[in-house]
Amino acid sequence: MLGRQMICLRDPDAAHVQLHFSSAISAGTGMAGRVVSGPAAQPIPAAVTGWGHELRSLWAFDPEMIFLNQGAFGATLRELMVVQTEWRDRMERQTARFFMGDLPKLIREAATELAQFLGADPDRTVMVENASSGIMAVLLSQELTPGDEIVLTSHVYGAVRQAVRHVAARTGARIVEVAVPVPVAGPQDFVSAIAAAITPRARLIVVDHVASPSSLILPVAQIVALARQAGVCVVIDGSHAPGLLALDLNALDADYYVGNCHKWLCNPKGAGFIVLGRAAAQAATLHPVTISHAYGQGVLAEFGKIGTRDPSAWLTVPSAIAAHERLGGAALRARNADMTVAACDAIATHLGTELAGPAAMFAAMVSLRLPPEFGAARPETAAALREALWQSARIEALILPLHGALWLRLCGFAYNAESDFAAVAQALDALRDAAAREAGA
Ligand SMILES: Cc1ncc(COP(=O)(O)O)c(C=O)c1O
Repeated sequence: MLGRQMICLRDPDAAHVQLHFSSAISAGTGMAGRVVSGPAAQPIPAAVTGWGHELRSLWAFDPEMIFLNQGAFGATLRELMVVQTEWRDRMERQTARFFMGDLPKLIREAATELAQFLGADPDRTVMVENASSGIMAVLLSQELTPGDEIVLTSHVYGAVRQAVRHVAARTGARIVEVAVPVPVAGPQDFVSAIAAAITPRARLIVVDHVASPSSLILPVAQIVALARQAGVCVVIDGSHAPGLLALDLNALDADYYVGNCHKWLCNPKGAGFIVLGRAAAQAATLHPVTISHAYGQGVLAEFGKIGTRDPSAWLTVPSAIAAHERLGGAALRARNADMTVAACDAIATHLGTELAGPAAMFAAMVSLRLPPEFGAARPETAAALREALWQSARIEALILPLHGALWLRLCGFAYNAESDFAAVAQALDALRDAAAREAGA
């Protein structure tokens, strides 16, 4: 495990890691030496001397904001917005030749670079608009009949639950949502709960790689093994994983692995993916949600033609991967995780509460429990508290109810420093004091 240290909230100026990045960036080459296809990226500084607030200008942030919510909608690097514009310019120079000539090959080139980053097979990797449309495509490709069971956990992302409800209503399938109460004792809590939920009627298991409300990293390799043993199709919702965790999707070989590039890879919005497992690719039952000219021509062709849409976010993905590597790649991910886990642990200790699970089950996104004096575990209370954090301290973070408590989810990224987390602790103290005064008045 990463060597994690307790961070003293009163000493936010902890030492910065010094990094020196190659000037090859400006030539459109990432640290890994991979050539970025398409228009050259506008160079960010060739030598980034440390992670923290000095990197904020690489994003288009509101200068007053303390942003601790990269996991929600991401935040696009400015240089990637430039790359996207260059792709759009190229598209609009001659749209007919672009769509009918170049585009299918360009999409495959982008998907191939993405697959390499994910440790996946390019021939089993397709681009989609976002994780929602990827999950929907997978759900619609299942032949479900009345009484078939779809297994979810209580950590499922709300929109994915709705998609499953829609498919269940249309097919007569039954949703089996297993509760995995937080804090969890360890990864085994998920494995045991899912194992107990698999009956002979189970057809599909949909689980997160990194859960949105609890931030917990699920033991997906064990869950895939469990599903395989039971002969049940397994879909991993990896929306948060690229750029947050190191991935080897070939080794995992889930039937379907769906993810997003706009969260932790800082890509422009509109780029998600599906990686098919070996068996799913052979079964060839997957189709995009939008059927178009390439119907029947195989999964790669079909997902490359889904009607006229702006493909620039897809084509920007190789530049996003190169930018991620330049920002530090594995070292950046480790630093973000160390900082976030230590800081959230310190906040939880300060509040007298706990994290949603053991430190080893988190990366750079962590959920901690808010004590009961912050209010009832209801969506309205969570929304009001989130707004209060924004109004009182310009802090952007997620708060939501889960298993009878309110949980605060904080994300740490390249532009964050320990002082951002210290500001959260201070703001929470102020809100708690104000609530106590109001109660006493
Ligand atoms: C775990 C999880 N799954 C799915 C999604 C849906 O992603 P999108 O809105 O990009 O389709 C999200 C978005 O936050 C998520 O956190």
